[in-house]
Amino acid sequence: MSRGLLIVLEGGEGAGKGSVLSAIAEWLQAQGIEPLCTRAPGGTPEGQVIRSALVQSGADWEPTAELLLMMADRAQHVGRLIRPALAAGRIVLCDRFVGSTIAYQGGGRGLSSSVILDLQKIAAAEVTADLTILLDVPPAIGLKRSLKRLAEQNSSEDLFERLDLSFHERVRASFLAQAADDPKHWAVVDASRVIAEVIADVQTRLAGLLGKRSAA
Ligand code: TMP
Repeated sequence: MSRGLLIVLEGGEGAGKGSVLSAIAEWLQAQGIEPLCTRAPGGTPEGQVIRSALVQSGADWEPTAELLLMMADRAQHVGRLIRPALAAGRIVLCDRFVGSTIAYQGGGRGLSSSVILDLQKIAAAEVTADLTILLDVPPAIGLKRSLKRLAEQNSSEDLFERLDLSFHERVRASFLAQAADDPKHWAVVDASRVIAEVIADVQTRLAGLLGKRSAA
């Protein structure tokens, strides 16, 4: 059986990853493809426990402890969900992956990218994204959107949203640098536009990838 595809959506707060992911899943379903939709942190029941501890208001982790918890989530997520799905030939749509760890714990918290990549090798081994789509939005716009959504949902998962603008500017710069360093595996989409335009742009990028796969 052919290996599946791992497609990752990345971006800062309020980039619209959730809405884009649902729209893409429906678009694939209309083509007879049933994707596995998941997210990090929290894509498994065990990861959900880690997520609750990590992103709640008021959590106060050492940056290294935060990194190790993200990586514990990664190992569980890849081992129990993503790798088996890829081995079964499925398309996996994942909301955040290692790009977020490099952007948030590397760019944002200032931890070493090479340490993060070493830990990623331990946590995920050979599992890498076939395509990472960066939904790029200026943090001043994204944070406003995100805080509004958290208030509407009465959610207290706002640890990162409460950090200052300069943290989020570093996260954005790291995402853009990762995309520029590896244009074969990353695509940047301007997510400051209306959501329908963002979704159409993402569909165009994915159509290219799916076309290549069915031709192979
Ligand atoms: P979410 O709000 O997009 O679901 O993600 C939860 C938060 O976790 C988000 O603020 C980014 C953060 N995060 C990291 O800091 N490092 C990581 O490796 C991942 C996957 C997420």
